[in-house]
Amino acid sequence: MDAREPGGDHEPWGDREPCRTEGDASMESTTSGLRSDEDLAAWLDGLAPFATGAEVTLPAGDELVSVLLDLSVPHEDVTELLATRDVLLRDPELREVFERNARTLIAGIDTIDDRREFPPLPGEFGAVGRWFHVLSFIAALPYVQAYHHRLGIPADVSRRTLADLGRNVAVHRRRLGVGGLIARHWMGLHFRGELYQLGRLQFQRALVPSRVSESARAAGLSHRPEDPALALHIPAFHGPFTPAACDESLALAKDFFPRHFPRERYRIALCGSWLLDPQLREYLPKSSNIVRFQGRFHLVEELPNRTPDDTSPVAFVFGDPDLPIETLPRRTSLERAVGDHLRAGNHWYSGLGWFEL
Ligand SMILES: CC(C)(COP(=O)(O)OP(=O)(O)OC[C@H]1O[C@@H](n2cnc3c(N)ncnc32)[C@H](O)[C@@H]1OP(=O)(O)O)[C@@H](O)C(=O)NCCC(=O)NCCS
Repeated sequence: MDAREPGGDHEPWGDREPCRTEGDASMESTTSGLRSDEDLAAWLDGLAPFATGAEVTLPAGDELVSVLLDLSVPHEDVTELLATRDVLLRDPELREVFERNARTLIAGIDTIDDRREFPPLPGEFGAVGRWFHVLSFIAALPYVQAYHHRLGIPADVSRRTLADLGRNVAVHRRRLGVGGLIARHWMGLHFRGELYQLGRLQFQRALVPSRVSESARAAGLSHRPEDPALALHIPAFHGPFTPAACDESLALAKDFFPRHFPRERYRIALCGSWLLDPQLREYLPKSSNIVRFQGRFHLVEELPNRTPDDTSPVAFVFGDPDLPIETLPRRTSLERAVGDHLRAGNHWYSGLGWFEL
């Protein structure tokens, strides 16, 4: 997974962008401006039609503040989001795109494996562009909450799962110095009901990729590509992931999924991550949580022509995939491992592994 999006991509805007306001004569019409970019044009074409489907509203004032706090949005971003909500809704064309985007999200609830992109709006949209997708997720929030409720998912699981939105706003601020959302596609998983945080780990209702099912079959399991699997993810800003915390999460998952998704039978857990690069074992002690996490998995054989993934460890360990490697600090054994390995001219690779549940 590319760390620019947990992975993700890199927003072009910096600290001092203009704030688009209603009636800004220097802006082209919203949609024609967006259509000049190929990715944005494709995204617009894929959105739900206007004024069909679910009703889309955004809370205002204190109600919006409460929602933002429940989603763990950092306090320093709350005031800007309140103001941006009003700017967005005052622009009729942008509001239409926003409503269509939110309806598309809502229509996707209870589907899995949607590869749809949520591209960033161009830098000239300023704060409205940075917050557009966060506000879309907020508009979809009552629908995903209702979906969780229908499935009997406990309110605390629902809240902690969706609070990853605030964590990812913090990631954006850490990397770019302003609020926004880098991991837009990632948050789609939570807001479609595809991913749940249970204790220390997140679990995604996924399909077994063919490489994993081949590896599982070679190990004697009867698995077919596209059988369901639980993909494990490790949230940042959450302290160490001790073996005991992982065991507890796995025990919660074994109870949670049969209870709330009784028609889906999960026999395999899988993980694709920089944390599963076996080279880490050359640097970290056997007692490290990362090495012990690796020990749970059958690692899928590497492809001969695999592509290096140096940005993931740099982003997850140091906060920014674009930091120059000469400047990476050496405070912990992992920081030394990641930086020294790269400075010696080597590469990191994302590993893929699975184990039977
Ligand atoms: C995954 C994670 C929880 C592992 O942390 P951990 O449980 O402390 O892992 P380990 O016990 O193996 O740590 C070994 C050493 O690396 C250090 N370390 C671990 N994660 C670190 C990080 N993100 N930044 C700097 N140092 C880190 C530990 O402090 C320890 O240092 P020491 O040996 O000098 O005392 C942590 O790296 C993290 O939060 N990463 C961000 C999320 C992430 O990468 N998710 C996967 C996305 S694909």
